[in-house]
Amino acid sequence: MTQTTTSVLGEMIDQETTGGRFMGSGELDTGLRLIVESLRAHAAEITKVRPPKPELAEEYARLMARAGEARGRALLYPYIGSGLGNGALVELADGSVKWDMICGIGVHFFGHSDPALIRETVLGSVSDTVMHGNLQSGFEPYELSELLLAEAAKGSRLRHCFVAAAGALVNENALKLCYQKSGGAPRVLAFKDCFMGRTVTMSQIGDAAGNRIGIPLSTLVDYMPFYDAAAAARMGKERHIRMIADHLRGYIERYPKQHACFVFELVQGEGGFNTAPREFFVELMTICKEHGIAVWDDEIQAFGRTTSMFAYDGLGLGEFVDVVTVGKMTQACATLFTEAYNPGPGLLSATFTGSGAACRAGCHILRRLADGGYYGEGGKIAQHAAAFKAQVEALVARRPAWFPAVGAGTLADAPRDLCGGWGGMMRFTPFGGAKDRITRALKACLEEGVILFSCGHGPYHIRLLPPLGVMKLEDWPRVFECVERGLARVAD
Ligand SMILES: Cc1ncc(COP(=O)(O)O)c(C=O)c1O
Repeated sequence: MTQTTTSVLGEMIDQETTGGRFMGSGELDTGLRLIVESLRAHAAEITKVRPPKPELAEEYARLMARAGEARGRALLYPYIGSGLGNGALVELADGSVKWDMICGIGVHFFGHSDPALIRETVLGSVSDTVMHGNLQSGFEPYELSELLLAEAAKGSRLRHCFVAAAGALVNENALKLCYQKSGGAPRVLAFKDCFMGRTVTMSQIGDAAGNRIGIPLSTLVDYMPFYDAAAAARMGKERHIRMIADHLRGYIERYPKQHACFVFELVQGEGGFNTAPREFFVELMTICKEHGIAVWDDEIQAFGRTTSMFAYDGLGLGEFVDVVTVGKMTQACATLFTEAYNPGPGLLSATFTGSGAACRAGCHILRRLADGGYYGEGGKIAQHAAAFKAQVEALVARRPAWFPAVGAGTLADAPRDLCGGWGGMMRFTPFGGAKDRITRALKACLEEGVILFSCGHGPYHIRLLPPLGVMKLEDWPRVFECVERGLARVAD
């Protein structure tokens, strides 16, 4: 694994400044080593799933009630962490230990209490301020930008990068770049079922009615159908793609020069881990290019998790992308853009870019992703995807009654309909994708020791964003033992 250095400033500055000497000091190094040793020793106690401790039940319930009271609504999951985990296992404050297969919706790719990552976050926390900002900053956010841009330079024209604290914020920044470049074109093209975050604008573009209740609709969005494998199988892939391309041309004819951008999720996240072949995206992106419509690729959920670091690379779409947003596993989020989209002064700024801990952790994660053997056909992510699929197929074979046809599919379509996603974005679909049973299954699985979540707007799927950075292939049968126990409670 890549050794990360204490310094982000360079050798000379480290020697000549007091700050540099502090960061390189033996005392700091000793402190770090003590922290990491203690962390390792405690984490080593966490080796398998265990149930909650009865003696903690009352106190845990009180914590849950306080959290719900503070927030104004009960927590979706009865989850409060104890502050420690070990790889893919995490301890909750009720003393239980669970497999974490959702990782805060994809944030903890290197699992829980990873010693190298903790070391970086401590280092990021001892610099002079908590948060870096646009006016006054350490180098950390720029180093994160450089690392992202170096990876992006391999297959795209992305040249610059702007860091911000949340996915929805970097999406807001992306949209502003597109609006400004277009000279104020007011419309946005987006896919049906897309998700983009929860600011006022992103809630409007995101295609979930429940997420925009009570929000005045001020953003003009034209929704496009996403690729539908079943329709493509019925009518032929080329014809299906042609029909969707005609749909796009229809919007452009109806509103000439009115579209600032088309926002793509190359794997739909909240929408159901829906994928599409390269030619689908090429067709739509080519039309965008012909009409000066920005191609914006939202990889906030997909970045790092597919079989290439940027999902657009895996699909060979680097030549098309104008703006790309990343987040979640990068800890601090970012908007990357080409020279042509570099905005005028004043468009992008904010008090915060990100915390030192988040930026340093993000840099560490990017280095580890780059040379950890994760990507490509035979990479670790592809191996895990195959192991996951094998587990689902074995479960379907053992328990066929739990896996009726999904939607319009038949059992003969099982491999396609029952198990899907791309790389480390994994889904499977028991109980015909019925919402109530999937919801009950998630709760039962949580009680049986595995944290999962759902995706899709009907059919609903069980979603996994596992910590593939620390998971072993031999963990999969252990995870699926819990899954099977959980599903059994809903099936019976
Ligand atoms: C594709 C996509 N875009 C944007 C976001 C919003 O990110 P955040 O929740 O950090 O604001 C998400 C979050 O799930 C996402 O999946």
